[in-house]
Amino acid sequence: MSERSDLLGKHIVLGLTGGIACYKSAELVRLLVKAGATVQVVMTEAAQAFITPVTMQALSGRAVATSQWDAREPNNMAHINLSREADAILVAPASADFMAKLVLGRADELLSLTCLARPRERCPLLIAPAMNREMWSHPATQRNVQTLHADGTILLGPDSGDQACGETGDGRMNEPADLVADLTAFFQPKILRGQRLLITAGPTFESIDPVRGITNHSSGKMGFALARAAVEAGAEVTLVAGPVHLPTPRGVRRIDVMSALQMQDAVLPVASEHDVFIATAAVADWRPASLSQHKIKKEGKKVAPTFELTENPDILAAVAALPKAPYCVGFAAESENLLEHARAKLLRKRIPLIIGNLGPATFGHDDNALLVVDATDQRQLPEDGGRADKLVLARELMVELARRLNLHPAN
Ligand code: CTP
Repeated sequence: MSERSDLLGKHIVLGLTGGIACYKSAELVRLLVKAGATVQVVMTEAAQAFITPVTMQALSGRAVATSQWDAREPNNMAHINLSREADAILVAPASADFMAKLVLGRADELLSLTCLARPRERCPLLIAPAMNREMWSHPATQRNVQTLHADGTILLGPDSGDQACGETGDGRMNEPADLVADLTAFFQPKILRGQRLLITAGPTFESIDPVRGITNHSSGKMGFALARAAVEAGAEVTLVAGPVHLPTPRGVRRIDVMSALQMQDAVLPVASEHDVFIATAAVADWRPASLSQHKIKKEGKKVAPTFELTENPDILAAVAALPKAPYCVGFAAESENLLEHARAKLLRKRIPLIIGNLGPATFGHDDNALLVVDATDQRQLPEDGGRADKLVLARELMVELARRLNLHPAN
């Protein structure tokens, strides 16, 4: 499997304020570092009551900053140095009290001072609120949320669920993996902002009887990676997924289906409302002509049963033929002669773009090698002809798409 370093080269100031969710920040640092970021931890006094700077130093590999009076800084201006180096400040957890301080522009300890002193145009502030549900829903906190939005602060969460105090509701800090995904998405250029994408993914399952069916080895990973990359690029995404075991990418609207007919029913009525349709699903070409209501039994039968098959509709070709068709992108899963087969499908399905890949080398894998084919041209992704992580490839396909749709890059 190829490695992915989503945050390589990014320097993150991670602020911790007082709250039991500080224990999750240990995992957060680990994940940020694993994603390639350098992390400078800053802790308030209250945060140090919940987790020690020793832990955070060991995980980040850097001495934790805790005081605005730290004489080790040559210019004695920790708040300036910290915020000038950072690509972003992430405060996680952000307590109700700290949010109130941000609203007021207070600067009486290092973290709030650093937030206030940051150059706003190049050092964004993201916060992950964490507090009891009553504190979160209090009009004072909600007023502060509005002001923080207006000031350009980006709020990640909070989540809903069980709270450390034993209550249940809004106010849980987002899970560390989700925060890293959100931060990663934040840094992606918003090249598809305002675009509506419809994506199919995974295999379909065509029932023979209540316990058996015909399916294939598609894992859905490429389609799910495309959905995630599209959301990261600012698009609104609906993902129609066959039976797969994959978590829904954040911000994606997911519709689960089993069979090709169900996939068609989910796709066709809404396709025209979308700007782009990407068909990554490995739709079963045939389904049993009739469905046995009960399990087909072996008992007493001397010969194996035979099944009559009937052809499934071609969902991609049907979408491409709509009067108000979105821009259609197909995927061709082949086992040989990739270019030839891909181009033949492009013409047969009357679509402007098709992505060829080798079925056995993609199904179930985390990486892939693609051939981007249109009517006159073709190019390999990755360009060196090797393999790359499916999310990396998906991001490159979003760039390709934005170029073909003549969308102007905007961040
Ligand atoms: N596709 C579809 N509906 C189908 C079959 C395929 O929407 N019933 C879409 C796939 O999602 C993919 C493209 O068509 O984007 C090509 O799929 P593929 O299975 O490679 O091609 P087929 O049209 O099935 O042709 P063949 O089986 O001959 O390779």
